Amino acid sequence: MNQSTKIKEIPKIVIVGHVDHGKSSLIGRLMYDLDQVPDGKYEELKKVSKKRGMEFEFAFLLDALQAERDQGITIDTTQIFFKTKKRNYIFIDAPGHKEFIKNMITGAASADIAILIVDVDEGIKAQTKKHAYILKLLGIKKVITLFNKMDKINYDEGKYLFVKKQLEEYLNKINVEPLNNIPISAKIGDNIVTKSKKIIWYRGDTLTNVLDNYEYSEEKNEHFLRLPVQDIYKFSDKRVIVGRVESGKINIGDELLILPSNEKVKIKSFEEWPKPKKEYYTGECLGLTLSDEIFVDKGNIISHPKNPPKLMNTFEATLFWLVNKRIDLKRKYQLKINTGEYSVNIRKVHKTIDTENLESKANKKLPSKNDVCEVVMHSSQLIPMDDFNTLTKTARFCLLDENEIIAGGIASLQNYPDQKELSNNPNIRPFSFNVTEVDRASRFNHRSGVIWMTGLSGAGKSSIAKETERKLFLKGFNVFILDGDNLRMGLNKGLTFSPEDRTENIRRTAEVAKLFTDAGFIVIVSLISPYRSERKKARDLRPEYFREIYIKASLEECIKRDVKGMYAKAMRSEIKDFTGISSPYEEPISPDLTIETEKEKIEDSVLKLENFITNEFSIKK
Ligand code: ADX
Repeated sequence: MNQSTKIKEIPKIVIVGHVDHGKSSLIGRLMYDLDQVPDGKYEELKKVSKKRGMEFEFAFLLDALQAERDQGITIDTTQIFFKTKKRNYIFIDAPGHKEFIKNMITGAASADIAILIVDVDEGIKAQTKKHAYILKLLGIKKVITLFNKMDKINYDEGKYLFVKKQLEEYLNKINVEPLNNIPISAKIGDNIVTKSKKIIWYRGDTLTNVLDNYEYSEEKNEHFLRLPVQDIYKFSDKRVIVGRVESGKINIGDELLILPSNEKVKIKSFEEWPKPKKEYYTGECLGLTLSDEIFVDKGNIISHPKNPPKLMNTFEATLFWLVNKRIDLKRKYQLKINTGEYSVNIRKVHKTIDTENLESKANKKLPSKNDVCEVVMHSSQLIPMDDFNTLTKTARFCLLDENEIIAGGIASLQNYPDQKELSNNPNIRPFSFNVTEVDRASRFNHRSGVIWMTGLSGAGKSSIAKETERKLFLKGFNVFILDGDNLRMGLNKGLTFSPEDRTENIRRTAEVAKLFTDAGFIVIVSLISPYRSERKKARDLRPEYFREIYIKASLEECIKRDVKGMYAKAMRSEIKDFTGISSPYEEPISPDLTIETEKEKIEDSVLKLENFITNEFSIKK
């Protein structure tokens, strides 16, 4: 066996099915038959039930044990540990319908196998179909179907075959192939741990035997490395990137590809106390440092250059819509995928499917609660992800609207281009200039520079920029201002003031500034640019030319000045996401120059900046 396809140590099994079809009874029965009920508990519950004139049910066992463990705290997903003679298992019981869907997407998404339970007396219900459909949606194709309550139908083979056929037809249509069909009775204990003496016509195995004999090898392509970045810990001398290997393995000698930056790096070290290993496998958490100081952020995906995820800004997806609210094509939603969070909108709804009969709803109808729909999604950011058919785990996501989960889904990436390939397109080669930077610098008598002015709206950025530009120009400098408001009228038109759009605004501006440095200019950028991380990215494009200038004025002072009347509006909530009022501003920690406009006269500030630029960038002859 290939090293990277290690057998899962503890398989995770999710149990789904209609509410009353016997999930809890099955778990209670398993606990009892596998001898995992604390001494005396079963007898105690039997006695209590009798006293109350109720028939004992195995579900009570589960309830009683859960109540003890959780002391009344409601839980979303219950993880129950089981031990058979062969190995340990984790069972995930998903309580209600809606909770189930949420849990499947968020918590229990890594289930290795599913058990779909059907009451053979009642037959297939709408909920059975919905749950089966969600299993398919989440990529859990390995399903064991259990036909419960066989005792209720007197172990009738004909009835069993009838219900089984119905379910098979449905599963067939949605491309889910059951591994095994087992007629059981959780109540009596038939075919769960012990073989039923009543169901003599059934020649298959018991549930625990099926589970024990199943090879929990990994799904196709699970040897592709996927390490979503969870966090970055900064120590004085190093930056440790931490995450969990979602797929494949990572070895100390590996070359890595970081997405979305699309940069290749080597691993410098694994960090673990007391002693790091040489390689880490699927499911393991790790910390690492890189050979080069490149920008890595939460939500990035680390892979190998050979089989990387795709990088998408437009993609198709199948959604399971969870709420009463209708899809709003004009609205921005948050997409949570792997460890990243992105702002997206739904551009188009291709079709809406009724999970009951698998038919498309009338053409334009937007999905409502519990519908499945196929959509096109778009983000202004580049999102690393996989196609659902390549690697399920890194193709699943949930969609939120103001922190409420509104849909779960999977991504389908065939019909839109992988942006990574576009930027890697071998037909696009960097163009090399015949006029070099040195040529330009010696003609202009100064080197190129990015004078990046950051500060609150009204702090004085534009005024200082304008006057400094004029003075430098008169001195013979090649100088130009990139101003936030101006750029937003053209290049950055359509970008809002949401964190994602501001990030994009800063990125584009930084790229344009870089072009100006190629042209030999001193470019003065006047942009609120409220985020440290994004200013750092701008610096990283050409660190040798970049200077961060903090145009400092207190928020109170800016409110007082309120040149454009915007603070007043923002305070009346007439402007959304206004920096300093309803959106954060992160002060520079160690700017190259600080100009305090509250304390200095504008002429002094301009002079200070002018001198700074002259000193830093002039070529002294
Ligand atoms: S940034 O945050 O994305 O860097 P940028 O500098 O481009 O901002 O734009 C800031 C200018 O847009 C401000 O000077 C102000 O005139 C205008 N503006 C309009 N709405 C807002 C807002 N919500 N927050 C900040 N500035 C705003």
